[in-house]
Amino acid sequence: MPEPKKLAMLTGGGDCPGLNAVIRAAVMTARNYGWEVYGVRNGFAGLLRVDVLRLSREKVKGILHTGGTILGSTNKVDPFAVKAGTQVDDQSDLVIENFRNEGFEALITIGGDGTQNIAYKFLKRGIPVVGVPKTIDNDVSATEVTFGFDTAVATATDALDKLHPTAESHQRVMVVEVMGRNAGWIALHSGIAGGADVILIPEIPFDIDKVCAKVRVRYEMGRNFAIIVVAEGALPTGGEFKGQLEDRRHEATESSLCNRIAQYIRRDTGHDVRAIVLGHLQRGGSPTTYDRLLGSRYGAAAVRLVRDGQFGKMVALRGGEIVAVDLHDAIERMKAVPVVSDIVQTARDLGIAFGD
Ligand code: F6P
Repeated sequence: MPEPKKLAMLTGGGDCPGLNAVIRAAVMTARNYGWEVYGVRNGFAGLLRVDVLRLSREKVKGILHTGGTILGSTNKVDPFAVKAGTQVDDQSDLVIENFRNEGFEALITIGGDGTQNIAYKFLKRGIPVVGVPKTIDNDVSATEVTFGFDTAVATATDALDKLHPTAESHQRVMVVEVMGRNAGWIALHSGIAGGADVILIPEIPFDIDKVCAKVRVRYEMGRNFAIIVVAEGALPTGGEFKGQLEDRRHEATESSLCNRIAQYIRRDTGHDVRAIVLGHLQRGGSPTTYDRLLGSRYGAAAVRLVRDGQFGKMVALRGGEIVAVDLHDAIERMKAVPVVSDIVQTARDLGIAFGD
């Protein structure tokens, strides 16, 4: 394959702190090889209608510490299944045609499992792709950490710190819902760091009566408040709450998971309970030092993979080093919290209940 001169780069799926650090690092690294980087707006949508912009050094100035993505993102557009009313069309040919017409020689896809799945399909259709893993949920199996996770955990921990004194002052139970559709990493890390009493995660089905029992014991001991952290995808034993998995707007609605849990605890224990959904706050804000660094390392490494013609690979963190893994392996399975692990055991040792 000839040396690429024009690189395209997109961000797909939910945004996350550190995306701009990746974009900036990729542009700055590509400049060293004399290459041009083009940003594709709003994920794959920007390749369906050729919505691209040249990312000069000027364009990526001052973005290292900013949240969001300067390219825009969407988790609704899959060129292999474009929805128009009730119709679903495969428009992948159009994307490939646009990509070639623009003279792009490589595509860097910064995204989670949804984006990398689409990227892999394009790879099989001949598009030279390099992936960069992204999600605040930290559930990509091929890498030890995804950028954005550290910032999201810091935000959630900060919220728990702020809820502690008000919970204690009013002798209340606070039920705090954090993101984590399929994996409980944010709940687990912030719950331990924020001194939660109960952590509910998708990997450990919970018995709501055991959660209530834990709350009762705390009040009996004279600790007249409790903090419960619940991942959005946490499931009660024997299934899900009716409508739980469809109703994922990350708002404090009547039917949101934390509200249902709060209502049950209120009825069962008679204590005053409040439900809080942290929602998209966890996706915002300035990336932490860790996420800026990891994002920068990923962005630079992705361009080095393009330089070396290593297409069909994704950058990943393993043993503290950035390595290249097969995109296919990377999307094959998600990374759940290992139920038997040091971190879960640490939580148990600290007296944190999982409702199991
Ligand atoms: O994938 C990351 C994530 O934060 C999930 O935890 C959550 O379910 C989803 O994004 C929310 O996305 P949306 O922007 O569609 O509400």
